[in-house]
Amino acid sequence: MSSKHHITCVFEDGATSQFTSSSFETVYQAALRSGLTLETDCREGACGVCKAYLSDGDCDLGDFSDEALTEDEEEQGYVLSCQTRARSDLVLQFGYPMSLLNKEMVRIATRVAALEPVADNVVRLVLESDAEPLTFLPGQYVNLSVAGQVDGRSYSFANSPLRPGAMEFFVRLLDSGAMSDWLRDRATVGDEVHIEGPYGQFFLRAPRGGELLMVAGGTGLAPILSMLEKLRAVDAPPPVRVLYGANHPGELFGLERLRDYGDWVTVETAVVTGDEAWTGKVGFVTDLIAEQRLDDATLADAYLCGPPPMIDAARQALTGLGLSDSRIFAEKFLPSEK
Ligand code: FES
Repeated sequence: MSSKHHITCVFEDGATSQFTSSSFETVYQAALRSGLTLETDCREGACGVCKAYLSDGDCDLGDFSDEALTEDEEEQGYVLSCQTRARSDLVLQFGYPMSLLNKEMVRIATRVAALEPVADNVVRLVLESDAEPLTFLPGQYVNLSVAGQVDGRSYSFANSPLRPGAMEFFVRLLDSGAMSDWLRDRATVGDEVHIEGPYGQFFLRAPRGGELLMVAGGTGLAPILSMLEKLRAVDAPPPVRVLYGANHPGELFGLERLRDYGDWVTVETAVVTGDEAWTGKVGFVTDLIAEQRLDDATLADAYLCGPPPMIDAARQALTGLGLSDSRIFAEKFLPSEK
């Protein structure tokens, strides 16, 4: 027999939502039945987008991958709302404002306006559309698809949300994969691409004073660029420290753009394997964190974007330096090509 439990969702802006759930349905399904569409993407326990902190209650965590919810996160009390089923009344805290849920999911047709290589195995893709511009928060992503060729693949905006006309993405080309093969072999200017979104809880929070630290690995730089574009539009942008890494120097892109932001952005780079011309740091981008003199009193928030091992190592390094986990926002870039 199924019993009913009360679920309370508390959002970053202090807004709350309450609904009931049976033990047969996930928190996401129960919320949906009550008219609340929580942030999700895969709904299979694979991406971690639906993560929430369980501050009270008992639940069945369901099935999920280590990438979506690490052992550490599980121990700290995080759960995946697309998998979790209540065993008692629950209180869940979500790391985004409830107002984010009021946005409309949009699907629009766009066309390729530019496609150019910017680094080894990285292309810059610019899409434009005659449809109503899609609004998003800097750091969020959309799913791109090409009729008959590519099913939805997730990519983060790199452009300013304040100028949403032309949408810019940086795509890492894998040896084989539907989107990689299409971009490398067949895509041309004018081709139609469908966009659905925006998605994601990784977005620039309202500045609360203090310095920002942004750590990017590979094409994880894309959402960081979108955040910097947004910040450059404010009268007095906060100081931002960007730590940016790649496997080798040829994979780094966007360095000139990072330098062009001005004095409020400082950049440090690292590559895992250098070459004869490389005079910078050799190592992981997360090694740079240990070299920073971070002052917990002046550092406001940290934003991390890149492969899962980079995120886990960066989070560990930052919490080791005393930064509260609640001030660290992260997006794991998972290889999604098949
Ligand atoms: Fe992907 Fe829940 S939506 S893990």
